Order: sequence, then structure tokens, then C-alpha cells
Amino acid sequence: MSTSEDYDAVREDIKKIIPNEEVKDGFGPIFVRLAWHASGTYDINTKTGGSNGATMRFHTESSDAANNGLDIARDALEPIREKHPWISYGDLWTLAGVVAIKELGGPTVPWKPGRIDATDESAAPPNGRLPDAEKDEQHIRQVFNRMGFNDREIVALIGAHCLGRCHKDRSGYEGAWTFTPTRFNNQFYVLLLSQNWTEKVLDTGVKQFKNDKDTIMMLPADYAFFTDPEFKKIVEEYAKDKQAFFNDFAAAFGKLLELGVPRSSDTETATC
Ligand code: HEM
Repeated sequence: MSTSEDYDAVREDIKKIIPNEEVKDGFGPIFVRLAWHASGTYDINTKTGGSNGATMRFHTESSDAANNGLDIARDALEPIREKHPWISYGDLWTLAGVVAIKELGGPTVPWKPGRIDATDESAAPPNGRLPDAEKDEQHIRQVFNRMGFNDREIVALIGAHCLGRCHKDRSGYEGAWTFTPTRFNNQFYVLLLSQNWTEKVLDTGVKQFKNDKDTIMMLPADYAFFTDPEFKKIVEEYAKDKQAFFNDFAAAFGKLLELGVPRSSDTETATC
């Protein structure tokens, strides 16, 4: 049985590979995206999807267009898995997201091991469960309510767009949301409220919002957090109160990573 020291050793190995001169922004932001996409397929009604199973190892889910580029994160973690072959991919991917948040200056996200890898494709959820960046607040609420999240949790989770950027060849969008894409902070909310956003159509055919100097961007789905009055109230709160954002983000991201993970009273105590 693996001990908390074993998980600490994995954490240390993840930490070491996050900064990388050859990769724009290092691996931190994409590890967060991997942990989120591995978990965000959960459906509370059918209790399918989620981070248990690590079903993104199989063709159906890895070829979902929403997951374009995440092979980079999975491949970067492979040597760590080879060094610690006892850890499940589900635990490794979610732990990498948690370690990345912390390494980039964010809060401590509660995390527990216990995900068991599926052996074949049949455990994979259907494609199309992750949110579509072109869509509005109605779609966002539909997708996140399906996972079991309320408005406040949804607004907290989207704050992770303080990290990283869009890559034309992965999603069709381009650019970062903030001027500090390798720091976890509340700048997503601050900039969403303070910049003047103009809609632009890219040569890839997608539309996104750019600030006046064309230095940062917002996806149509991000902009819905500005136009929807209920979302906006919470955005305003997090823009003013970084600690409230950190607390709510840690709880919501921790909940996201737990979706679909079977817990018995034994594993319940196996925190690390
Ligand atoms: C309405 C919900 C969301 C939509 C539509 C959305 C969409 C996107 C898109 C299109 C990208 C760009 C991918 C690329 O081109 O590389 C992206 C990147 C990213 N997303 Fe989201 N996302 C959503 C929610 C979230 C959530 C809940 C999290 C985490 C809690 C998250 C974390 C990230 C991170 C960290 C990146 C940057 C990855 C990198 O730099 O490689 N997103 N997202």
C-alpha cells in the first residue's frame, strides 16, 4: 500500500518539471487544464465521467476536440508515472493540477488519492460534455450544473483562466487572459472588469474579445461572466477580495477533482 511519503515523492517530481524554458508558461497551466478536463466530464445524474478511470488515455476521449493539446501534459507526466508505476493515472493527473496551482502561487487544494484506472474504452464518457468556448451563460450553467456546481462555484472555477493561454493550433483561439500567465491570482476578474473588450473574428473563424492594446483576450464564454448579472456580482467580489477567491477556488477545484471517485470509509481517511 502506498504511503503519504510516496505521494510526497510524486509531488516533488511534478514540482521539478513545472518550470521549463522550452515550453511557453512551463507545464503548470496545462497540468491544471488536464486535471480539469479529466474531471469535468462528470454527470451527477448518471454518475458517469469524472477523474476516476483516467479514460482520456483511450482514443474516444483523447480525440475529443476539447482535449486538443492535452497529450503534451500527459506525455510530460509519463516519466513520473514510469518512476512511480504504482500511482494511477487518475491520481497522477489530478495531483499534477493541485501541485501546479500551489507552485504558481495559488491556494492549497484538498486532494486525496484513490482513483482506479479503467482497463478499456467502455468506461469513457461520450464526447461533448466539456464546455464550448463560443457559448453563453445558459450553456455554462447547463454544463456545470450537470457536474453539481452552483453559480458561486462556477465563477470561482473560471478564475483558473488567470493561468496560461489559448493556442491557435489547439483550440483556434489565441492569447493569454492576463499579463501574469504563470501566477495564480485574481487577475482574470480584475481584467475582465477593467479592460475595454472588443469582439474580433480570428482567421481560424472563431470570435474572441481583445483589449484595446490587443495584448490579452477573453473567450465568448469568459465574457458571459461580465454580461450575466448574477455571475458579475461574484466576479466583482473576487476582483476585490483575492482571499475569498482563493478559499472558494480551493474548495471548488477540490470538489471537481473528486467527481466520480468511489469513496469507502477506508479511502476516506487516506488523505495526503
Ligand atoms: C466555460 C468554461 C470553460 C471554457 C469554455 C474553457 C475553454 C478553454 C479554452 C478554449 C482554452 C484554450 C486551450 C488552448 O488553446 O490551449 C482553455 C485553456 C485553459 N483552461 Fe479553460 N475553459 C473553461 C473552464 C476552465 C476551468 C473550470 C478551468 C480550471 C479550473 C480551466 C483552466 C484552463 C487553463 C489553466 C488553461 C490554459 C492551458 C494552457 O495554457 O495550456 N478552464 N480553456
